[in-house]
Amino acid sequence: MKCLFYPLFIFPSSTRLEKQPIKLTCMKGLIIYDSKYGATRQYAMWLSQRLLLPFRPSASITDEDLVNTDFFLLGSPVYIGRLTLKKWFTRKKAFLQNKQVLFFIVCGSAEDKEKQTTIIKQNALETIVSPGNIYFLPGRVNPQQLSFADKIKLRMGAMFEKDPVKKKGMLTGMDGVSMQQLAPVISAANHYLALGRRTITRVSTI
Ligand SMILES: Cc1cc2nc3c(=O)[nH]c(=O)nc-3n(C[C@H](O)[C@H](O)[C@H](O)COP(=O)(O)O)c2cc1C
Repeated sequence: MKCLFYPLFIFPSSTRLEKQPIKLTCMKGLIIYDSKYGATRQYAMWLSQRLLLPFRPSASITDEDLVNTDFFLLGSPVYIGRLTLKKWFTRKKAFLQNKQVLFFIVCGSAEDKEKQTTIIKQNALETIVSPGNIYFLPGRVNPQQLSFADKIKLRMGAMFEKDPVKKKGMLTGMDGVSMQQLAPVISAANHYLALGRRTITRVSTI
């Protein structure tokens, strides 16, 4: 955990005000991700290293973990327009309400604004996170890694793709995964973590 000053400490001086303990709260953050071929996991791992937060696959998360977390960084890849994390966050929606949530989406069309809007709408993402807290990151397609079924799906998708560069990427592979892509996500996450650290509550002992 990032928090160094945890619950209570008392100023040594004797004035009435200074005898009041100061509670310095700190925000508990968690990175939760889903990944089939490793691109989203790679981003989650880099975020974990930079933000000093734990990163865990969604399947390992308990309800208690969710209750004990204030700040979530959720990451999901897109397959045929669908976020693989959708089923999970739809079930866990109640736990995410009134918490800080950032969402990173890893896909083949990270720079295409029209496709971004479609992905957000089709996956009802705005029910758990505000649009300004959604980040699109370029993913990776390695044809040698893909299952037979995924190869077929991608080839069929390529038949309908009009953009020649994207079409080629779907057929022969692409790799846009890089640490640099995470700069805006890290900056937003640090903003929330700093806000959490600054929440100071005076607790009266009298
Ligand atoms: C079968 C298949 C379908 C995909 N469908 C989409 C899609 O609809 N939209 C998109 O932007 N990217 C699509 N992609 C690209 C993936 O989102 C990208 O490869 C991502 O990096 C996968 O992340 P992962 O390695 O964490 O599973 C697809 C990839 C495959 C293999």
